[in-house]
Amino acid sequence: MGKLDGKVALITGAGSGIGRATALLFATEGARVVVVDRVADGGIETTKMVEDAGDEAVFIQTDVSKSFEVERMVKETLVTYERIDVLFNNAGIMGTMALTAELTEEDWDTVLDVNLKSVFLCSKNTIPVMLQQGSGVIINTASVHGLIRVPGCPAYGASKAGIVLLTKQMAAEYARQNIRVNCICPGLIESGITAQYIPALELDYIPQGRAGQAEEVARAALYLASDDSTYVTGASLVVDGGWTTEVRMPLKELPT
Ligand SMILES: NC(=O)c1ccc[n+]([C@@H]2O[C@H](COP(=O)([O-])OP(=O)(O)OC[C@H]3O[C@@H](n4cnc5c(N)ncnc54)[C@H](O)[C@@H]3O)[C@@H](O)[C@H]2O)c1
Repeated sequence: MGKLDGKVALITGAGSGIGRATALLFATEGARVVVVDRVADGGIETTKMVEDAGDEAVFIQTDVSKSFEVERMVKETLVTYERIDVLFNNAGIMGTMALTAELTEEDWDTVLDVNLKSVFLCSKNTIPVMLQQGSGVIINTASVHGLIRVPGCPAYGASKAGIVLLTKQMAAEYARQNIRVNCICPGLIESGITAQYIPALELDYIPQGRAGQAEEVARAALYLASDDSTYVTGASLVVDGGWTTEVRMPLKELPT
């Protein structure tokens, strides 16, 4: 018995990293997976990985920041599977790192559109399906950057903080209709988005002293997607090796 037997799970940004790990885990747990990504190569590869493991997936190439593409994505999913039980809004980009005054309007718009507007668009188009079914689960990938300030990422941080609040908003709006909405706040996770700079980082600011793996976030997503979390909605599940427990103090040694 899988934890997601009979469920249809649509996962955005599933062509890589956290989305791919979640697609593989959800499929192992019995879900039929709709792999969504803007990039065809990654999406097709994830779909093949699921199928090679003997499970079921389809790929729908979509830019989740574009309204008409999201509408088509939901329609195509319904043609194939007739329902959407789990929506994992996970696609995201870091964007350019810069101080606020040096960030271009274009960079700001791109990050906000891909990270935050996409959550709105995918949820807006999927919630009516879930209302009709009488149930559904939405999981959003926010970040520790939505909870604390991380230097150099004003647009990214604002987009992720927006996801944390939008999660609470949607959770309250649809709680009585049996739709649960939660977000995950990963810390530093080894994936496409971080691959270039992780080797240059000293990781002692993370209490566990290491970066996380995509599979460790996927297991948090499984908890939120499954009936293990039936009384959990509006929550932000932090998966960060303890990063956000700490406020760094500029002390050379402890006061006596
Ligand atoms: N890796 C980390 O340290 C970390 C930490 C906190 C939060 N996150 C968040 O986790 C999520 C997944 O990131 P990841 O770490 O797996 O990175 P990743 O780069 O490996 O995966 C992101 C995927 O999203 C896809 N994507 C980007 N823009 C898209 C769009 N407009 N439409 C559809 N697909 C799009 C990419 O093609 C890619 O396959 C993101 O929302 C990211 O912000 C990552």
